[in-house]
Amino acid sequence: MNNTYGRLASHVYNLDKYIGKSFGDIEYYRQRLDGYRGPILEPAVGNGRALIPLLEAGFDVCGFDASQDMLDYCLAQCAGRDLAPALSRQTFETFTYAKRFDAIVVPAGSLQLIADHAAASAVLKRFYDHLAPDGRLIFDLYPGDMVADLQPNIRSWQTETGDLLTLTSQRVKTDIIGQTTVSHLRYDLWQEGRLASSELEFFTMRWWGIQEMLLTLQAAGFEDLVVSGDYTFGRAPRDGDHVVTFECRRPV
Ligand SMILES: C[S@@+](CC[C@H](N)C(=O)[O-])C[C@H]1O[C@@H](n2cnc3c(N)ncnc32)[C@H](O)[C@@H]1O
Repeated sequence: MNNTYGRLASHVYNLDKYIGKSFGDIEYYRQRLDGYRGPILEPAVGNGRALIPLLEAGFDVCGFDASQDMLDYCLAQCAGRDLAPALSRQTFETFTYAKRFDAIVVPAGSLQLIADHAAASAVLKRFYDHLAPDGRLIFDLYPGDMVADLQPNIRSWQTETGDLLTLTSQRVKTDIIGQTTVSHLRYDLWQEGRLASSELEFFTMRWWGIQEMLLTLQAAGFEDLVVSGDYTFGRAPRDGDHVVTFECRRPV
């Protein structure tokens, strides 16, 4: 029930964060990857929101995700566009590929779904091991997530068939020492005013200090670290920024 992105959660994701919807990230990643010819990996690829525009821009991208429901959306969206990237069901913690990548990209704050510092450090090391020499890791963190869901919140979407999906979110735990929050995400599907199905997800997020992440990346072996605020490459993050992007390199 923790960060599982089940059937209704994936349906909501696909309605709300549809293919190509950008938070400024898709343009930014496309620009930062300009000139990359070799294979690129997107861990936690989800429904393909970012993957598909990158494929359409000519990049050789593949991805994995822990949620089969998310992957099913991604597979369907790719098939509808005659795209056939390698997609697999794997997790951050255990993924493995025989080949090495020229770049690994993790948009949308997905790394914050790893709730434990030691586990996240191991995942960053796994990224390092899957990069070719001189390969780059680029990912986003959302500093504002530590203040998300402080108040109960309800949102709704109309489905493709005219049903209603609602999401009620409520923070239930904040661990200041572990730097994590847990929210209850309740997804409801309503058909003709009647509740057809429900899903409850415990949504755990970890927030990071910028220096903490830089030290963790250095400990994993990365070099040439650049941290940027709100998708302005090289501009140090400042108070009020919505997103912080880290870019670093596996040395040759
Ligand atoms: C915020 S979505 C990001 C999707 C996509 N990358 C994007 O930019 O829109 C987070 C994704 O992380 C996946 N996820 C959560 N925990 C995971 C884990 N331990 N390993 C791999 N994927 C995971 C979820 O299934 C979900 O698809």
